Amino acid sequence: MKGIILAGGKGTRLHPLTISTSKQLLPVYDKPMVYYPLSMLMLAGIREILVISSPEALPAFKDLLGDGHQWGLEFSYVQQDHPRGLADAFLLGKDFINRQPVSLILGDNIFFGHGLPDSLRKASELQEGALIFAYPVRDPERYGVVEFDEHGKALSIEEKPEKPRSHYAVPGIYFYDGRVVEFAESLTPSARGELEITDLNCIYLENSELRVEVLGRGVAWLDAGTHESLLQAAQFVQTLEDRQGMMISCPEEIAYRLGFIDRETLLQQAKMINNQYGDYLLRLLEEEIPFHNAG
Ligand code: DAU
Repeated sequence: MKGIILAGGKGTRLHPLTISTSKQLLPVYDKPMVYYPLSMLMLAGIREILVISSPEALPAFKDLLGDGHQWGLEFSYVQQDHPRGLADAFLLGKDFINRQPVSLILGDNIFFGHGLPDSLRKASELQEGALIFAYPVRDPERYGVVEFDEHGKALSIEEKPEKPRSHYAVPGIYFYDGRVVEFAESLTPSARGELEITDLNCIYLENSELRVEVLGRGVAWLDAGTHESLLQAAQFVQTLEDRQGMMISCPEEIAYRLGFIDRETLLQQAKMINNQYGDYLLRLLEEEIPFHNAG
C-alpha cells in the first residue's frame, strides 16, 4: 500500500504562528507536527509516501524530510495550488497512486494509543473497498460524523452536520482501494467549495464497500488546529514521554524497529542530533525496548 500525507491549507486559525510557516511544521513538543502522521503510515508498514503541500510550504517539507532514504522510505512531493478539499489529494496523486490501494492521512492529525499499530497494519492489507475510523468526541459538529445502526453498521456519514446523528467523528486517516481516483474524479465541490472526503466515503458506503472501525477510549486522537489544542497536544506528548522515557512517533525509532534501516544508519542520525533526541536514538542502540511501545 502507498501513503499520502496532506499537509497544505492556510492554517488561518493558528495565525500569526502560521503566517510564514506551515502548520504541519510547527513543533508538537520535541518534533515537527508532520512526524506524527508520518509515523502512523510507517507503523502501517507503508514506505512509499507522497507529501502534498502548498507551493510556499513544499520546499520546507523537502528540507525536513528529503527523499526518505534516511528512514528507509521513499518520499515524493506534489504541490496543491489552492486548498480545494481533502479529496483533491487523489486527483493530485493520480500518477503516484497508479491504481494501487492507498492511505491518506492529514498532516495535522495526531494519534496515539494501545493497539493502534496492529489496527494500522491490518488496515494496510486492504485490497477492496475502503476503511475509515470512528472516534467518539464531545463536539461532533466540527467533523465528518458517522451514524451506526444497533448492530454497529454504518448508516450515514455527514460533513459537519448542524445536528449530528451520533458522537462519532471520522478522524483524518483513510484507507482506499485502487478505484479511489476514479471516484474522486466524479465528485463535485460542496457548498463550501471543496471536494469533500465525506462525499468520497459516501460513495463507498452506498456501494456497501465501506468498513468503519471504532477507535475506543484507549486511543488518543488529538487535534492541533488551534492555539489551545496545539499546546494540549504538546503537553500530552511531553507528559507521556517524560513518564515512560520513550518517544511517541519518532520516525528514526520506528524505521529501526521495523527493519527499514540498520544500526549504522540509525547511529549516523543519532550523531547528527546533539540533544536529548539524539541521546534517545543512541540509547535505542544499547537497550531493548519492547516494540509495542514504539509508536
Ligand atoms: O480532522 C478530521 C476531519 O478532517 C474530518 O472529520 C472531516 O470529515 C474532514 O472534512 C476534515 O475536516 P476539516 O474540513 O475541518 O479539515 P480542514 O479543512 O481543517 O483540513 C484538514 C487538514 O488538511 C488541514 O491541516 C489543512 C489540510 N488541507 C485542507 C484542505 C481543504 C489541505 O492540505 N488541502 C486542502 O485542500
